[in-house]
Amino acid sequence: MNVLIIGSGGREHALGWKLKQSKQCGKVLFAPGNAGTRSIGRSVDLAVEPVTQKVVDDVLHLCRHEKIELVVIGPEDPLCQGLADKLMKEGVKVFGPVAAGARLEGDKAWSKQLMRAASIPTAEARQFDNAEAALNYVRNHETPVVVKAAGLAKGKGVIVCDDAAEAEAAVKQVMVDREFGEAGDVVVIEERLVGQEVSILALVDGRDIYVLEPSQDHKQVGEGDTGPNTGGMGAYTPTPLVDEKLMRQIDREVLVPTVDALRRDDVEFKGVLYAGLMLTPGGLKVLEFNVRFGDPECQPLMVRMKGDLLSAMLACSEGTLAQRVNITWDKRVACCVVMCSGGYPGGYEKGKVITGLDEAEAMEDVFVFHAGTKLDDEGNVVTAGGRVLNVVALGSDLVAARDRANAACEKIRFEGAFYRHDIGDRVLKQTS
Ligand code: AMP
Ligand code: GLY
Repeated sequence: MNVLIIGSGGREHALGWKLKQSKQCGKVLFAPGNAGTRSIGRSVDLAVEPVTQKVVDDVLHLCRHEKIELVVIGPEDPLCQGLADKLMKEGVKVFGPVAAGARLEGDKAWSKQLMRAASIPTAEARQFDNAEAALNYVRNHETPVVVKAAGLAKGKGVIVCDDAAEAEAAVKQVMVDREFGEAGDVVVIEERLVGQEVSILALVDGRDIYVLEPSQDHKQVGEGDTGPNTGGMGAYTPTPLVDEKLMRQIDREVLVPTVDALRRDDVEFKGVLYAGLMLTPGGLKVLEFNVRFGDPECQPLMVRMKGDLLSAMLACSEGTLAQRVNITWDKRVACCVVMCSGGYPGGYEKGKVITGLDEAEAMEDVFVFHAGTKLDDEGNVVTAGGRVLNVVALGSDLVAARDRANAACEKIRFEGAFYRHDIGDRVLKQTS
């Protein structure tokens, strides 16, 4: 069975690596992939954004020509723009939700309303489509807030504020200066919560849910959780913050009511439902939903996953998850460290030659997934993005996994490279 994976990051590399282990997996194609995905399958030069009719026709043509039987859509943008809907209409099997389901991620205001209507625990929030009203609200608000552009902003549209002045500046940034374009037409202003954050990802087939192991990511760029948010600097799984009892509670109070609320609106959600949760003194609260695998959470999850991912993804697309999942998990901890280009998440240079990859990959229980890489004209692997490589290691505990991942990172060199050495410290400090 041939598979097409849409996307070019470390998440897509890890998904391709895992899918390829399935006995029923034939060719894996990537659109567009990166330098690392080439060891798994061919790269197709096909940009899917924005999702125009030409893009849909090109993907359909590719599916027919290459006998693709499953299309896995990695990132949120094409999902929100309806790529899954359009392919499914033509009879192609897709892993990833239709646009009406992807709205959970693509429209934070709508998502908040759904949570409220379904009594899903979430931060208190107000929404505004008018800058003056939003500014008035934050000026008169005593406690700290978080200002969120309601639309998709590449993970950057959330501004956590310490006081009213910061909140005012954030509203201006989003609604007046329109830093995130249309994504900032509406803002959601939320009470600022405190607590540990966890990522809960579940496979969903429209009705049934299979919850993957809990993970935690580290969004801030600097060690000790300092500096601006990024797409994600590292992640590990499992996390001791979520035991079985809490997992059952999350299933019962968050995942099931969300899938049911969508069904009541005739939306069959098929794909990954990702709940970003904060464990607060007042109980668990949803901070956000995503409608795809987390990046980088996906990478350590794939390394620990045993069993047939292709079969599970097909079951999601066919609505047969309850009968067909045979996934188990490596008992060890997997930790992923993200190596970045100097300057990220601000501006950075590209095209730096990367060395030491073979040496890192040769280490036992180490897996190197590529994120922002490409091959240059001479065949060198060079940097091509802010997040460049995702180095995952397994270990008997979190410290062992993290130390091994860091040791592997040390073998890899490119000009300006940096990474956080403290992935997992947040939880280690809390539980020690
Ligand atoms: P989101 O994309 O909504 O998950 O927001 C990105 C990050 O902002 C989260 O991972 C949190 O670290 C932070 N954040 C979002 N909402 C809140 C909130 N209500 N209180 C505190 N921090 C938040
Ligand atoms: N790791 C956070 C995200 O994928 O949105």
